[in-house]
Amino acid sequence: MPKITYIAFDGTPYEVEAPLGSTVMENAVKHMVPGIEAECGGACACATCHVYVDDAWTAVTGSPEPMEEDMLDFAYDVRPTSRLSCQLKVKPEYDGLVVRIPERQA
Ligand code: FES
Repeated sequence: MPKITYIAFDGTPYEVEAPLGSTVMENAVKHMVPGIEAECGGACACATCHVYVDDAWTAVTGSPEPMEEDMLDFAYDVRPTSRLSCQLKVKPEYDGLVVRIPERQA
């Protein structure tokens, strides 16, 4: 199972095993990683599951679809590596993925 590391805003790392086909958001919520609110439950309609993909992983996670990009406009402190974690579906290539949690959600 791919391992994903979430780095909380205070620098605390949370390493979780993420089942294939689940989303990066779902695994954060399941393991109570602080800072992911996911108010809409993964419908790409709230922007409170915002994360920064580690620079080394942006090629693997790819670019947001237009709907995600539109919703990212509502996120706090958006950067080039910003993604909505509910739109990142875990696949084998995600093993070792590192994402950082922003200071706060929208
Ligand atoms: Fe709402 Fe991701 S959980 S946009």
